[in-house]
Amino acid sequence: MGSKLRNRKVIITGAGDGIGRALALAFAKEGAQVAACARSMDRLDSLSHELEGTGHICLSSDLSKANGVKDFHDNAMKELGKVDVLINNVGAILKLANFFDLTDQDWEDSFQINLMSAVRLSRLCIPSLQQSECARIINISSIAAARPQDIFPHYSAMKAGLSNFTVSLAQTLATDKILVNSISPGPVWSKSWENEIQGEDADQAKKEIMEQTGTTIPLNRMGMPEDLTGLALFLASDQSGWITATNFSVDGGLTKNPF
Ligand SMILES: NC(=O)c1ccc[n+]([C@@H]2O[C@H](COP(=O)([O-])OP(=O)(O)OC[C@H]3O[C@@H](n4cnc5c(N)ncnc54)[C@H](OP(=O)(O)O)[C@@H]3O)[C@@H](O)[C@H]2O)c1
Repeated sequence: MGSKLRNRKVIITGAGDGIGRALALAFAKEGAQVAACARSMDRLDSLSHELEGTGHICLSSDLSKANGVKDFHDNAMKELGKVDVLINNVGAILKLANFFDLTDQDWEDSFQINLMSAVRLSRLCIPSLQQSECARIINISSIAAARPQDIFPHYSAMKAGLSNFTVSLAQTLATDKILVNSISPGPVWSKSWENEIQGEDADQAKKEIMEQTGTTIPLNRMGMPEDLTGLALFLASDQSGWITATNFSVDGGLTKNPF
């Protein structure tokens, strides 16, 4: 990829950990200027020390709230001046439960973080994206959007909404040459998995989860956050100029969908 993303202005949500963090590091390595957001300033501070290059900004905001999205957008724009690539990565299961254990509030909370954060931030970024020579929106969805299981139906439904919104928005923005695509990860080891570990021996528990989950995947391992970066860098580059309204699975072959 070389320096093709040099000086591109990239906004990435949910970048304190996991996939968002790996994306921030990868884009900075390619010479882009990154505005990253999460709630915990600790994680952002450590990210800001790891980002290569200059001109990055890491901001604490709660993106489940309309004013949190606006604050992040306004402060990111103050630093970057414009945006070329928006990556709506933030998302969370929030409650690992099945239908009967989910309240109206659980569904509402899932809606706000998994769908509305992307809707709101896209709306705010579009005027600047319209001025960009290489404008991209990349939404991080999930294979659960198309393949829901009985667990966490609220999350799967919101991710289905995000994938659906991607295709709709891509058509709305096609005349502006803003390309909009989604990436659907399969199981990727990250903080959300780490949080599920209980008991004393965390390393052993992690090893067992990774091995067990890996056996369900043709490539025989769980994903790591870095597995998502290659496609995102490509979609952000000039080489993806005829790709929009498309969802890409990055899942080690798990979904095996030929169409
Ligand atoms: N990991 C997987 O197996 C997997 C599979 C399919 C799809 N995905 C999707 O991929 C994306 C990234 O997932 P991940 O597993 O890499 O995430 P993760 O490791 O749990 O990290 C999530 C990031 O988002 C931030 N965040 C969470 N709630 C926030 C809020 N309300 N406002 C602002 N920031 C917030 C977190 O920091 P703070 O807590 O400090 O705010 C953290 O930096 C998500 O959209 C997820 O749904 C993940």
